[in-house]
Amino acid sequence: MQDGRTTLSKFLIDTLDRKPGPESASGLSALLIDVAASIKTISAALTKGALGGNYGSAETHNTHGEEQKKLDLATNEIFLQHCEWDGLLAGMVSEEMEGVYAIPDAYPRGEYLLAFDPLDGSSNIDINGVVGSIFSVLRVNGTAGDAAFLRPGREQVAAGYAIYGPSTMLVLSVGNGTHGFTLERDVGNFVLTHSDIRIPEDSCEFAINASNERFWEPPVRRYVQECKDGKSGCRQRDFNMRWIASMVAEVHRILMRGGVFMYPRDFKTPAMQGRLRMLYEASPMSFLVEQAGGMSITGRERILDVKPQALHERVPVILGSKNEVARIGRYHGEYDRGEDKPYTSPLFNERSLFLPDPV
Ligand code: AHG
Ligand code: MN
Ligand code: MN
Repeated sequence: MQDGRTTLSKFLIDTLDRKPGPESASGLSALLIDVAASIKTISAALTKGALGGNYGSAETHNTHGEEQKKLDLATNEIFLQHCEWDGLLAGMVSEEMEGVYAIPDAYPRGEYLLAFDPLDGSSNIDINGVVGSIFSVLRVNGTAGDAAFLRPGREQVAAGYAIYGPSTMLVLSVGNGTHGFTLERDVGNFVLTHSDIRIPEDSCEFAINASNERFWEPPVRRYVQECKDGKSGCRQRDFNMRWIASMVAEVHRILMRGGVFMYPRDFKTPAMQGRLRMLYEASPMSFLVEQAGGMSITGRERILDVKPQALHERVPVILGSKNEVARIGRYHGEYDRGEDKPYTSPLFNERSLFLPDPV
């Protein structure tokens, strides 16, 4: 299919509906069109900026105890309204809702489950920074309770995100590569502009919230220190660091030009396994990254193989260029087996109370 000529509908008809397979008869493409409609509506609302009267806090908190912005709630409603009526869904899960959202009785029930983060990076919204939406689609097996959603990410039938930047893009995978569509605003179509995105296997760019450095595990500190040592260190080349604080923006950059994004396990809040949420952040993004030839791990496991235990479970995330992510995975293995060189920063040796006992 030709970049610049193929609309999202054409792409889905060609990729799903005209291919014999379980998805063709069951309306996955129609569901994705409804998700795309949510994204267009959100894009229009965000473009209004402060003039839309939607900036600021809603003065409520979500299930993670995070303050909800007015736009977190408004974008959540947009997803629900566009997707609940079509008879294709059996239930929905969102960052902004505690439990599974049951399809209202007025509408027929379908075969799919949708999990979404309606507004990712919402701390950037009031500063007119880049934000996004992330979504994941599973096929229901039985009743649409919590258990139906608690499946390893490799079982997703579709995953994607929208990025609301200078242009709005939808990046999507239905399991045959990762493809990017740009919103042609005056017409209202998503047009294929980035077919079969491939993440370069090597990279010199990494993204991590460095303010958490003192809480990181030794393998992550080892990797980042080596990057910072640049040409004079063992990597023998200089690295760049980027941090936008919006997972969508980081993953998008990595899909476009490679790199590594990390929100690793840390000891800032020991009870918390990472910062990002499995169902509507880590799992769909890992699917897109793998479909583009990249790699996505917790440090110790492939994320798509992890079976979540709770709807809002968090998970450590290290994703991006294959060779870099594999290296970080190797560092975790060496550390766990006690083969790692001891970390030499005097600061951290002194403050080793932040770290677990070496195994
Ligand atoms: P959300 O706005 O949906 O709560 O998600 C924000 C996430 C993610 O987008 C980003 O990578 C990370 O939180 C930023 O974390 P810091 O606040 O530590 O920078
Ligand atoms: Mn998010
Ligand atoms: Mn969010």
